Amino acid sequence: MKDCGWRAAGARRDFTPAARSTRTLDGVGLCLTTVGYCSSATLRSSGRTAVTSMIPRIATVDDVSALVRLINAAYRVEDFFVRGDRTTPEDVRDRLEAVQGGFLVIDAPETQVLAGAVYVKICGVRGYFAMLSVDPSWQKRGLGRLLVRAAEEHCRVAGCRALDIDVVSLRSELPPFYGSLGFIPNGTAPFPHPDKLQQAAHLVLMTKPLPVQ
Ligand SMILES: CC(C)(COP(=O)(O)OP(=O)(O)OC[C@H]1O[C@@H](n2cnc3c(N)ncnc32)[C@H](O)[C@@H]1OP(=O)(O)O)[C@@H](O)C(=O)NCCC(=O)NCCS
Repeated sequence: MKDCGWRAAGARRDFTPAARSTRTLDGVGLCLTTVGYCSSATLRSSGRTAVTSMIPRIATVDDVSALVRLINAAYRVEDFFVRGDRTTPEDVRDRLEAVQGGFLVIDAPETQVLAGAVYVKICGVRGYFAMLSVDPSWQKRGLGRLLVRAAEEHCRVAGCRALDIDVVSLRSELPPFYGSLGFIPNGTAPFPHPDKLQQAAHLVLMTKPLPVQ
């Protein structure tokens, strides 16, 4: 079954966090190079630091604290319907250690503080991503788009034929965002933690075919 943004982290991986720092996540080294190149024509600088020069990298256990801070800051936008933080150090650690799962992250230039991150997991011929997070001070400058493309390329290189995402039904701005990136709605599912909800909500499932290139 798919592990979505709001569901539990996947099974534990069979290689160590140390191995991750040497970029053993299948295909990521290749895909990140490709993404950095492919994204440059479509990103914009908005008069500040150009995101074109910001290349995603694979997170390591050293990034756990920064990932928790970034994700929880970005997801404050969901406070109007769900109680509590989006993630915890334990959750991020579990995701980092999941089989064929990991985070792609983008460091802000100069400060090296995380500006964005996305969790990606491969499950056979399907890939999915979750926890797409851009620091509020970096939003609307192209990083969200860049991270989705990085996740897509990572999954494509790993042999996936489709990429899945789910969004909470109350986030009406998100289907158009993902739609502009080629994702189409293909179903719904119950919200996995109804006890946390302050309003009725469900998940909207979206997918994008990844043709062989
Ligand atoms: C959603 C999110 C990742 C987008 O990141 P971002 O860096 O601001 O997005 P981009 O700058 O790449 O924007 C890409 C496009 O989506 C649009 N967009 C981004 N956020 C939007 C929003 N909240 N409402 C409407 N449109 C939005 C942008 O205007 C842009 O469109 P354009 O290319 O036609 O100008 C970011 O707002 C975020 O971290 N949100 C909180 C966490 C979250 O909701 N994650 C997704 C859960 S599934």
